[in-house]
Amino acid sequence: MNTNQVVPAPEVAVDPAAFRHVVGHFASGVTVITTVVDGEYYGTTASAVSSLSMEPPMMLACLNRSSSTHDAVLKAGVFGINILAEDQSDLAMKFGRKGGDKFDGVPVTVSAEGVPMLDGALASIVCRVEETPTGGTHTVFLGVATDASARAGEPLAYFRGAFGRLERVKEIAAYDAVRDWVLGRRTPLGSALDPVEIAAQAKSDPHNVHNALVKLTAESLVVRGDKGEFLSAPITRELTDSVYDGRLTIELG
Ligand SMILES: Cc1cc2nc3c(=O)[nH]c(=O)nc-3n(C[C@H](O)[C@H](O)[C@H](O)COP(=O)(O)O)c2cc1C
Repeated sequence: MNTNQVVPAPEVAVDPAAFRHVVGHFASGVTVITTVVDGEYYGTTASAVSSLSMEPPMMLACLNRSSSTHDAVLKAGVFGINILAEDQSDLAMKFGRKGGDKFDGVPVTVSAEGVPMLDGALASIVCRVEETPTGGTHTVFLGVATDASARAGEPLAYFRGAFGRLERVKEIAAYDAVRDWVLGRRTPLGSALDPVEIAAQAKSDPHNVHNALVKLTAESLVVRGDKGEFLSAPITRELTDSVYDGRLTIELG
């Protein structure tokens, strides 16, 4: 799929795979929603989280009804929002899986309401559940903040299915733009790909464009010329198959 394509207004609901691809372009932070029921801790990674209102201070978190943390939050009536810091991608992955003791080896500080809050988070907000409207497969937990704190630091970002520093968002966007440029033959076959020209057109950092070209060389979409310049690789049957397979891997996660 061409990432620069304008998506036409649909007459029917958008295809789920296309929808997933498109909404993945919304860069967000990453949180872990935590709660406690009968002394047992629950937690799930969640990116569908937002501030809602200032007076009263309210947050919302959208949890899939298939999530065990979802049921626990309904029961507990209280939940914690742990906004992860850039060095906490391991926690995002750990709490993004089902089963096991997710809190094993994870230092927490227990809130006044008994909710385990992850140590080292960039920010922590404890909420009392106010309303629970539903939408599709999810419940939207609307909560009034009863406690909130933050520390200095950088957030963990989530974009196109990858975690990283905010800088990583720009790297992924540059890679997509350069890949589209190469596959769209914006530079004719046989002519050198100019990182500065591509960067200017794609509104990307030339350094990120250069790195994208190196990555595309490893993926055989680009080759190096005699003088080290980057050239688009001629399209072969094997190459189109591998491009298609690679794209599927990215889209399907
Ligand atoms: C980056 C990321 C963001 C996620 N965002 C959400 C979300 O907003 N809401 C949700 O219900 N699940 C989300 N998930 C999926 C849950 O974390 C996952 O289904 C988890 O296994 C649920 O665990 P549980 O059943 O123990 O609660 C996300 C996963 C990842 C990795």
